[in-house]
Amino acid sequence: MKNQLTANELRQKYIDFFVSKGHTQISGASLVPENDPTVLFTTAGMHPLVPYILGAEHPSGKRLTDYQKCIRTGDIEAVGDPHHLTFFEMLGNWSLGDYFKKEAIGFSFEFLTEVLGLDASQLSVTVFAGDSLVPRDEEAASTWESLGIDRERIFFLPREDNWWGPAGETGPCGPDSEMFIDTGRPACGPDCRPGCSCGKYFEIWNDVFMGYKKNADGSYTEMERKCVDTGMGIERTIAILQGKKSVYETEVFTSILAGIEKLSNKHYSDQEESDISFRILADHIRTSVFILGDPKGMAPSNVGQGYILRRLIRRAVRHGHKLGIEGSFLGELAL
Ligand code: ALA
Repeated sequence: MKNQLTANELRQKYIDFFVSKGHTQISGASLVPENDPTVLFTTAGMHPLVPYILGAEHPSGKRLTDYQKCIRTGDIEAVGDPHHLTFFEMLGNWSLGDYFKKEAIGFSFEFLTEVLGLDASQLSVTVFAGDSLVPRDEEAASTWESLGIDRERIFFLPREDNWWGPAGETGPCGPDSEMFIDTGRPACGPDCRPGCSCGKYFEIWNDVFMGYKKNADGSYTEMERKCVDTGMGIERTIAILQGKKSVYETEVFTSILAGIEKLSNKHYSDQEESDISFRILADHIRTSVFILGDPKGMAPSNVGQGYILRRLIRRAVRHGHKLGIEGSFLGELAL
């Protein structure tokens, strides 16, 4: 890749780009959602913006950008492989009833090609294939095509793949268009496509065209005022831009893995079994630190966020012991 950005550089370039496009930078919010009792943690950049996507006026205007701390524990058991993280940072740009699909895709394409220096031929995108509720997204596909993405790199996928949200049980949602870097590896078979687990395609960004509200009874109401929600995972994006095989090989994890190496007298990337424990310990201690440092002030407990924190700490200790680390060591790694 031409542009080997660090996490700090990517964050700054993203914010600068969207500010130059008339967006106001807003602060990220707490890891505990203020407006969503249906989940424990903020799961996406749009989560704190739900009331504004649903129609409230945001004091900073209709075009916003930020980076947001997120926690997703739904696939905690998958942490340990090279890609899963329970804590990550998400970059986002929002239109609150201002621009919609064409402009959002245009901004994404410009950022990917002109700021990150990617070639259109390195990108593949997915768009919503349509169902009984929402039609096939020809508009998104033809917008990508007009910008220079070949038709064979535009994949129409069903609701399981190309519908995002709500962030909790209810709230705004809509069809999306996801952007993937094609690693150039050969396709694993005739059905290989973005989203395939073979590793050919690497998802970096998602533009959601928020046009619906999911209600508590499972029905959907069309929203009068359409919004755009986007999300780019910082750790995943810098890993692919830096040509790394895994998020754990980026500078985000250098010092924490070095700390585990020092305490365990083992080397990361020597053996798959110990690598799994290295990654679980590194991920869980990082997530725990962010929960403990959150302005909402959470502590380990038997319920709610505190229960998740306790579980993360316990798993971290268990994997530390598996690596041969003795005594109480988490404090040292948390520094
Ligand atoms: N909210 C969307 C996501 O998290 C952008 O992928």
